[in-house]
Formats: sequence, C-alpha cells, structure tokens
Amino acid sequence: MIPSIAKLPRISLGNYPTPLTEAHHLSAVLGGPRIIIKRDDLSGLALGGNKCRKLEFVMADAKLKGIDTVITTGSSQSNFALQMAAAARKLDMEAYLVLFKGVHPETQGNLLLNNILDSKVRIIELDPSELLGGTIMVKMNALADELSQQGRHPLVIPAGAHTPIGTTGWVNAADEIWQQLQAQNIDAHYLVVTNGSTGTQTGLEVGVKYLKLPLKVIGISIFNKAANAINEVVNMANETAKFLNLDLTFAPDEITVYDDYIGEGYGISTDGCIQAIRLVAQTEGIFLDPVYTGKAMAGFIDLIHKGKFTAKDTVVFIHSGGIPALFAYDKEIAR
Ligand SMILES: Cc1ncc(COP(=O)(O)O)c(C=O)c1O
Repeated sequence: MIPSIAKLPRISLGNYPTPLTEAHHLSAVLGGPRIIIKRDDLSGLALGGNKCRKLEFVMADAKLKGIDTVITTGSSQSNFALQMAAAARKLDMEAYLVLFKGVHPETQGNLLLNNILDSKVRIIELDPSELLGGTIMVKMNALADELSQQGRHPLVIPAGAHTPIGTTGWVNAADEIWQQLQAQNIDAHYLVVTNGSTGTQTGLEVGVKYLKLPLKVIGISIFNKAANAINEVVNMANETAKFLNLDLTFAPDEITVYDDYIGEGYGISTDGCIQAIRLVAQTEGIFLDPVYTGKAMAGFIDLIHKGKFTAKDTVVFIHSGGIPALFAYDKEIAR
C-alpha cells in the first residue's frame, strides 16, 4: 500500500479485494479486446458499488472527529447517498439526504432501500448541474446548522464523497488492481471507468501515475462535458496528490474522458445504455446499472466498434455498482 495511505484512519465497510472476472463471452460477441471486469459491484456495502472505497476513509475520519450525523446530496436514486446512509447505520450515525428529484423519485431502487434504513430524506427541486455547486452546499450547511442547534455533531459530505480523502479510496484501488493483474498474469493496457463526480477516475489516475503502472485510464462521462470533467479530474488529482504527500502534478492533456454517451442528460437512459445492460447480462450474467455503468459500457462498446480497442488489447472495465437503480428504471429497461 502507498505509505501515506497506510497511515490514514480507515474503517472496513466492504469486501476487498473485489474480484477481477474474465468476460470471455462478451469479448467474443463484440469481437473486441480481452475484457476483464473489476467487480466493485460486489464490494458489499448496501448491495455494492464504488463509493464504499471512498467511505472507508471518509467515515473513519468522521468517526475520529466525533461526528454523529452525516449529510449528503445526489439524485433520488443516488448510489452514493444510499451507501453513505448504510455506512452511517453500521457506525451508529444518522444520515440526512438532501436529494434532487431526478428522473425516478418513486419509492423504488435506492429510495426503497433508504426507506428501509430510515434515512432522513428531503427531496428538493434542483438541476443536476447544481449538484457540485454552491446552491446545494448552502442548503446542506443550513441543515447542518439546524442539527447542531439540536445538539448533534453533523458533517456535510459533498456529492459522491468528492474530496481528497474520498478519492484516496480509488488511489488505493489502482494498487489493488495492479497486484491482482500481476498475480493473475494479466497484461492489461487500459482501465475503462465511469466518470460522474469524477473522483473514481481521479483516484485511479493518481494511483496509476504514482505507481508508474503501464495502464491508460479512459473515463466515460455520464454527466459533464469532457472538458469540464477533465478539469475536475486534474484539480482533484492535484489536491489528492498534495493530501497524500505524493510528488505529482497533473495536466489536462494526460487525462482522457469521452462525453458522447450521456444522451439527453444525467439519469436519462439511452438506447445504447439499455442495450449494453441487456448484452452484458445475456453474455456474462452480470447486471450493469441504467445511470452509470450501462452508459460507460455503451461507450466502451462504441469505442470497440470504432477501432479504439482491438483484439490485441486487454481492458479492465470497472463495474462501479448501481444495481439498485435497475429496479426504479423497469419501464425503460423491460421488453
Ligand atoms: C454506480 C456508479 N458508478 C460510477 C459512479 C461515478 O463515480 P464518481 O462520482 O466517483 O465519478 C457513481 C457515482 O455516483 C456510481 O454511483
């Protein structure tokens, strides 16, 4: 483990290392590269997903600071909000979720699971573009003040745990993936990952650069325009490197993000996404999700068709979870 990461407080919330699964059938059907799927959907916490790695560091830090209430935001089907709320229950904390309505505010998928957890959910009208911006922080900070006056010790955690501490979880994942690739004698060339609040790609970029791994990270955006996503990766990568005392700096030209697979917008499924979900299920028995990994897989498939990845390549596709949302998107997905 990277020494400055080993020194950080961390609480075990998931099952690591998550498996690397060979996707022979999918690869054969696509006539493309060797495909290995990194199964972070099997990380365990609240039906799995990528945010568990971030939360192991974020919640450990919160616990040390005497926090008893965590507040975050996202869409009503936010996977991060659910995973944070589940972690909070395990650590005897309360979770408040200030969620924008999004496409599926019904009590299904992640909202059903939040109902079971008895998370304190407030649904508001907000454009997703405000998610990482000031408006939502003002609302969450006001809630934190309210809760402080009631004698609680709240912490506001940005959407997706998009902080250097949270990103650290995915710096560590780069190390984990590399050790698995070596142990399994797999000569991989690319990591393909969904880019949302950008932290998962950022963590991988920092880990790959610090450890000098021969892997290129490719992000598929499900929300931001590529230039914005790249700028955010660079900013957070530089902040995270500083936080971890790593002598690294990042520039936009070393980061790759594709933004051609977003469709009409965040949370709105595309035909390509639904076809990708059905194809991966019908070739590998693995379920992707309709907001993140389905779109990332649609992008990956399109890039294979365009010759960006060939039979000579080996690609690790990061399955970052999101399964609960499948059940809220039944109308879009079912045939
Ligand atoms: C299932 C899933 N995959 C990928 C992502 C994107 O990760 P990040 O926000 O770190 O870019 C998210 C974010 O919520 C997610 O829920």
